[in-house]
Amino acid sequence: MNDQLPEDLICWQQLERTASDVFRLFGYQEIRLPVVEKTELFARSIGQATDIVEKEMYTFQDRNGDQLSLRPEATAGVVRAMLQHGLLHNAIQRVWYTGPMFRHERPQKGRYRQFHQIGVEAYGMAEADLDVEIISLTWQLWKQLGLTETTLELNTLGTANSRQQYRAALVDYYQSHKESLDADTLHRLEKNPLRILDSKNDAIIELNRNAPDILDYLDDESREHFQRVQQLLDKLGISYVRNPKLVRGLDYYSRTVFEWTTDKLGAQSAICGGGRYDNLVEKLGGKPVPAAGFAIGMERLIELMKIEQLCQPVKRQDVYLVQTSATALELGSTLAMELRDAGFSVTANVGDASFKSQLKKANRCNARLALIIGDDELQTSTISVKKLDDGEQFSVSRDNLLAEASKYLAITE
Ligand code: HAM
Repeated sequence: MNDQLPEDLICWQQLERTASDVFRLFGYQEIRLPVVEKTELFARSIGQATDIVEKEMYTFQDRNGDQLSLRPEATAGVVRAMLQHGLLHNAIQRVWYTGPMFRHERPQKGRYRQFHQIGVEAYGMAEADLDVEIISLTWQLWKQLGLTETTLELNTLGTANSRQQYRAALVDYYQSHKESLDADTLHRLEKNPLRILDSKNDAIIELNRNAPDILDYLDDESREHFQRVQQLLDKLGISYVRNPKLVRGLDYYSRTVFEWTTDKLGAQSAICGGGRYDNLVEKLGGKPVPAAGFAIGMERLIELMKIEQLCQPVKRQDVYLVQTSATALELGSTLAMELRDAGFSVTANVGDASFKSQLKKANRCNARLALIIGDDELQTSTISVKKLDDGEQFSVSRDNLLAEASKYLAITE
């Protein structure tokens, strides 16, 4: 679990701002949800036999004896909230969210126990256009951020019915190679055979090359749906690679699934994952409502933005106010208010300190101008203005300060 220090947050805020602008362009509204939900919600939605539910949740009993978990992802909570507030009755919903998620995974670069996602969920639209809408939303976001090093991986998981048959074919296939399966794969074979497809074990990766492909088990409607998704992506010029091994680590998906990956981040290469989950609303107690969404891993995306040098530089403070007496401070606080009213950022020196040490602080906070109010300035109704980049200093009358400071700050933006 990481601390997020002020200097890191510049890039985080840039991402949050850009993403919320793009979400607005697509008509998505923000939703904010609790970080704690009933454990059962996650078990029923993400799936009892997934790594997340089996071994990664932070679960505890509260004082009433309720089993609760820190959310490992947000989709389950969004569906819970939609149902609880009756927002899905004959309605189309498009929402976005951001916040911390918790998974007790083995930490490594790009994989943390508290991490942050920013994502969207959309309800009430069964057609392939929605799958493409959410993919093109991510595409638009990458464009807006200036990202270039990303690949869209695409697959379909069909309907529950076609997946059942596919699952049976996979079990047959792996059973016939049982002697080469390690303990983890044997466990998956019993509990969740599709997950063998994204094994990181070299021998299993090799075995997976000849594993059955879901495309051969799809029902006609799912096949058409998948073709339509690809056609629309082609029309938009969004390129993708079909990855038949892309099965996702959560059980609620049906039909389209996708991940955005990059080869710039080492092992933790997925910066965004999502897809369609048409059965989840019903499974959580609602009437059937088709749905789709995705979540971006913010730590990973920000790391990629840093590698691609897309983070904006830290914005400099406009003014540091040096005030060397109690009377100076009174005048200074009025001036600071006027400057802030005009939109300039002002850090005022707080407490007693020598002129020299105040100037040092002005430099340390990377201000562009120091405005100095000392005894001389008070007597002559002037302010000394020091440009901190080149040390040049001049004096302006108090009445002219705002105009002079604005002039200088505007040209050195
Ligand atoms: P997910 O693939 O589990 O999907 O997570 C989405 C993204 O969160 C990943 O691609 C990755 O970038 C990031 N992520 C996951 N675990 C970690 C971790 N331990 N440390 C750092 N980053 C991590 C979901 O969570 C689904 N709820 C997405 C979704 C929304 N599907 C439909 N709607």
